[in-house]
Amino acid sequence: VQVLRVDNNDEKLIQRYLKIQEQVLPRLRYERKMSNTRLLEELQLNDTLNLWVISTESQDVGFVQYTTTDKVHVTVEIEIVDLREREWKRAMSQILRGLNEDQIAVVYWNWTEDRDPQIRWFKEIGAEVTLVEHFNRLILKEVNWELVEEVVDTYEVEGLEISVHYSDEIFQRYLDDQEFVEEMADFKTATHADVPNGTSSLAPKIYTAGKLCKRASDRIGNPDYNFILVLAMDSGRIVGSTKVNLHGSMGHNGMTGVRRESRGRSLATYLKSFSLLYLRENHPEIKYVTTENAEMNAPILRLNHRLGFKKLYDKLRIELHRSDLRIG
Ligand SMILES: CC(C)(COP(=O)(O)OP(=O)(O)OC[C@H]1O[C@@H](n2cnc3c(N)ncnc32)[C@H](O)[C@@H]1OP(=O)(O)O)[C@@H](O)C(=O)NCCC(=O)NCCS
Repeated sequence: VQVLRVDNNDEKLIQRYLKIQEQVLPRLRYERKMSNTRLLEELQLNDTLNLWVISTESQDVGFVQYTTTDKVHVTVEIEIVDLREREWKRAMSQILRGLNEDQIAVVYWNWTEDRDPQIRWFKEIGAEVTLVEHFNRLILKEVNWELVEEVVDTYEVEGLEISVHYSDEIFQRYLDDQEFVEEMADFKTATHADVPNGTSSLAPKIYTAGKLCKRASDRIGNPDYNFILVLAMDSGRIVGSTKVNLHGSMGHNGMTGVRRESRGRSLATYLKSFSLLYLRENHPEIKYVTTENAEMNAPILRLNHRLGFKKLYDKLRIELHRSDLRIG
């Protein structure tokens, strides 16, 4: 097994990387299928993004992606196509050996049913394995329309203003409307801090108006970032949101959040139901919606199951300390 680092000047390897992605992502029903240009852009813009191609003698079998989110934290996202256990271990050892950071968080999607061999291996090489997050990827193919319609018909909005926005409009507002971008940064920071993620040592994400503006100017006009955002506003204050990224026939739902003081009044249920009805009327091309939930996030799981979401596969996050590793 060979692990090849993708360099942003290496057109050929980038093409090979994209080809594996093309094979893997539909199987995962993953929405962020990157175009060649977007991948190059990401590599140039984002110096924390690192990619590898995993290949055997006869074929490319997978890829690894990692982002250094701060000085010591590395996240490996690993996707393997038809790789036997022994080869998986070899590839993983090479990747771990190549990292300099002390604390390593390995993220991988588990669509092979049995994750135990991998976990066992991490323990064998001396890692103290902490499962810090256990995400479910959920898919919604058959919406519980009865519930959705009832919720939207009967919900008492009580002075809240509910609105639907498209990505480019939101990006433009980030650039033009200082008050809005500051409010959004505050809302995102506050709700993100409450997403349960077990014992993760990752600090909650801090969103600033500056970061959102930068992101907006990089992404505006790019069809890869096409989404609808449903907002609930209370006198200029954002109190709830839900977002659906639009990718062909696939929608990906995220950024569902309600400010603490507005929780427990079914606002999240209402916003998600509202977005599904909006999609039915305005985006009939969307055939299914995916989302990701931390397994310990009881309210959002309950809500998603009521709407008709079903589990597709797991996503695991394992924390390791490099100094503990014994890799031959
Ligand atoms: C998750 C969140 C959006 C829910 O907002 P909300 O408006 O309070 O949600 P709802 O009132 O619509 O409640 C959803 C369901 O969860 C249930 N619920 C609420 N708290 C719960 C708890 N601690 N345990 C189990 N179920 C709970 C509610 O009873 C409701 O089910 P019901 O309709 O059968 O009664 C909100 O808690 C939040 O912003 N959390 C932080 C951000 C986050 O985790 N977002 C999701 C990321 S995937």
